[in-house]
Amino acid sequence: MFAQVPAYPGDPILSLLEAFQADSRAKRANLSIGLYYDDDNSIPVLASVREGAALVAAQGAAHTYLPMEGMAQYRQALQKVIFGKDSAALREGRVATIQSVGGSGALRIGAEFLKTYFPGSGVWVSDPTWDNHQVLFAGAGLDVHTYPYYDAQTNGLKFGEMLETIDALAPRSIVLLQPCCHNPTGIDLSRAQWHELIVVLRSRELIPFIDMAYQGFGDGMDEDAWAIRELVDAGLSFAVSNSFSKNFSLYGERCGGLSIVTLDCYPERRRSGAGAGSAEGDRTTHVLQPPSARRQTRVGHSQHTAFGGPVGDGSRLHAGTHFADARIPQASA
Ligand SMILES: Cc1ncc(COP(=O)(O)O)c(C=O)c1O
Repeated sequence: MFAQVPAYPGDPILSLLEAFQADSRAKRANLSIGLYYDDDNSIPVLASVREGAALVAAQGAAHTYLPMEGMAQYRQALQKVIFGKDSAALREGRVATIQSVGGSGALRIGAEFLKTYFPGSGVWVSDPTWDNHQVLFAGAGLDVHTYPYYDAQTNGLKFGEMLETIDALAPRSIVLLQPCCHNPTGIDLSRAQWHELIVVLRSRELIPFIDMAYQGFGDGMDEDAWAIRELVDAGLSFAVSNSFSKNFSLYGERCGGLSIVTLDCYPERRRSGAGAGSAEGDRTTHVLQPPSARRQTRVGHSQHTAFGGPVGDGSRLHAGTHFADARIPQASA
């Protein structure tokens, strides 16, 4: 039955780890999967994680299903970490977040979400980028392209070429960007360069997809999320995938999230009566509720575990520049 299925040669990153573990030489160096080791050469268990785990154990709560979008407290806490506790977008209910299976799950759900509602859009990733970006986006059916990024001559950024390429993209092209600690190069945009890029992202009506896997490993938790908050302040609608694998040293728990920032708030529109009962109101009702994300979660993952799992906040996806046109039918539970 499965004879035509080719043998899998193995994941290049994990295979390298296996080769490292099988190597008995004393002076070997592990350059495979990125894990943070402390000065004692151990993977730390953070005090906060230890405390949290003890609390969960003491509560002895049942391991029941979570809502399709994940655990509400987790998603709310995540939003504050990513967008800042004083974020106007959060205050205005303009961010929908779903819990995901690590950063990878967030990327895949985000890719599927975009493919579903922007079927004609391709995605542009940096050259080079984290290998899995290509696989995850291509796996969701998106055409993956690159924009110039790393300059091996200067060990710096090809910022001019990068900007030029992005400035020539068709509206609603997806641009994957890392806000800090760029994997694999370690070279990040300066704040001035981000400002230039944001002007282009907005004027070309592109869809920024920000992938943050190393928040806190650069200049600090808030500092590393600066570009995300700048995009919010600049009034863009965009997607953010984030991972807590590295900064909470929670690799195997697969904790992450996918957030969609929109420009308008569905409940506000309804309360204020804007569009209520009109074609606009009906459209907004469909578009802005989170079923889009929930539905994608259902399709992509079925359900979460309590510790990691699929994408939201019950929050309302609403009409942003891009997401307003994603006509999304109400998902059945
Ligand atoms: C740039 C980047 N994005 C996403 C991820 C995925 O994170 P996770 O391990 O939580 O799936 C990684 C992991 O190495 C990464 O380097």
